[in-house]
Amino acid sequence: MSETITFTLDGAEVRGEPGQTILQAGDAAGVYIPRLCAHKELEPFGGCRVCTVLVNGRPQAACTQPIAQGIVVESDSEKVQRLRRELIEMLFVEGNHFCMFCEKSGNCELQALAYRFGITAPRHPYLFPKREVDASHPDILLDRNRCVLCARCVRASRDLDGKSVFQFAGRGPHKRIAVNAEARLVDTDVDAADRAVALCPVGAILRKRVGYTIPIGQRLYDHEPIGSPH
Ligand code: FES
Repeated sequence: MSETITFTLDGAEVRGEPGQTILQAGDAAGVYIPRLCAHKELEPFGGCRVCTVLVNGRPQAACTQPIAQGIVVESDSEKVQRLRRELIEMLFVEGNHFCMFCEKSGNCELQALAYRFGITAPRHPYLFPKREVDASHPDILLDRNRCVLCARCVRASRDLDGKSVFQFAGRGPHKRIAVNAEARLVDTDVDAADRAVALCPVGAILRKRVGYTIPIGQRLYDHEPIGSPH
């Protein structure tokens, strides 16, 4: 029988199983830790750092850091929330996230995080990138200007769809999502039903012609903040 691990999360005692991450143990205990690149269907990636917590006073990504006996985790403090807010603001200015023109509005996890953190206008200058939009596929649009490099599509295509359609290309500020064909999405074997398409948290990978099937006002985060208990 596996041993239970006991640790402290925001002052409360939480029990978890060996091998669980702080994020998973928090979820199991009903404590929401904000996240963007993490998804329960995917292997942890640790890319966005929105899930940052303090573990015994040191910053760690809750989605990759395993729980350990007796650790003290701080997630809901003003200091940690300020750090996350700053990260989310930087994601907004780094890409072209114009929610009012984006058909993902209301279902977008980046937008929903901004609402949860009370971000109305970023304090940093917008970079207004000009990245390639790939509309070549009859059923799927890829807009790299909205990509947050969370690697959900990379992991989902590889691990859930068994295709490896998406991967990263370039480094640093030039890093971007590429596809496993010469240049265009239409030349890949991606399909609109792929999990890689469904799990994009923002409006970077969109299915065509279904954008307004669910009207604005009736979407996932229109009524409740992201991370609300269900
Ligand atoms: Fe943990 Fe992105 S959710 S680093």
